[in-house]
Amino acid sequence: MRQIITVATMKGGSGKSTIASCLAVHWHLTGRAPTIIDADPQRSIARLALRERALGGVPVIEDATPEAWKTAQNLAAAGRPIIIDTPGFRSQSTLACIAAADFLLVPVKASPLDIDRMLDTLNSLLDDAGGRRPTFRCVLTQTTRDSVIAKHIRAELVEAGFPVLTSEMTNRVAYPEAGLWGATPSLISWNGLAAREIAAIASEVDGIVGIKQAA
Ligand SMILES: Nc1ncnc2c1ncn2[C@@H]1O[C@H](COP(=O)(O)OP(=O)(O)OP(=O)(O)O)[C@@H](O)[C@H]1O
Ligand SMILES: [Mg+2]
Repeated sequence: MRQIITVATMKGGSGKSTIASCLAVHWHLTGRAPTIIDADPQRSIARLALRERALGGVPVIEDATPEAWKTAQNLAAAGRPIIIDTPGFRSQSTLACIAAADFLLVPVKASPLDIDRMLDTLNSLLDDAGGRRPTFRCVLTQTTRDSVIAKHIRAELVEAGFPVLTSEMTNRVAYPEAGLWGATPSLISWNGLAAREIAAIASEVDGIVGIKQAA
């Protein structure tokens, strides 16, 4: 059962590495044995894994070469869920990792400044990734609860044909703080607010990927 989840956007700092590591740790703690592929030459997740809590033991494989998608496919063939964190710029590797994905998660930071450009780049990212568009969802990140801006961006995305997860990753210091120890909020406080919102995002993704597998 193949399961490759690629996390990608063309916008730096949208929360790719944070959400990729949080989802991986969540699934690890619920017994799903995921592996992260860090395909970003910045090595954000690989460096997190070198800190004290080592992402709770989630295996991290560094592969910033254009062959990262093959590494993902080989590992997925062994039956492990794979989460790929991609760089915040356009590259052959990112496009190939999108093309190889069973599910693409696109974190969108809730900022109005460049929503139009974001929509354009998202379209070209999906078009250039190869023959087929993977199943994908946007997820709003660094939101302020019930803010007008998040609602507005959600509406614009949906109108432009980009489905958005209902769950959001709100702006919480718990995320960078956990990172100080190489952890994610799920490792610090399983019932905390941040861990619960990650669980909600994971459960939505599970529902979508699960439906696809059953089809
Ligand atoms: N939900 C959140 N609440 C608070 N801070 C956050 C949240 N998500 C991410 N951050 C912070 O925002 C910054 C950018 O996040 P992150 O590194 O995950 O983005 P990225 O898309 O992987 O960036 P890059 O394009 O450079 O790889 C980091 O300092 C991170 O700690
Ligand atoms: Mg990153």
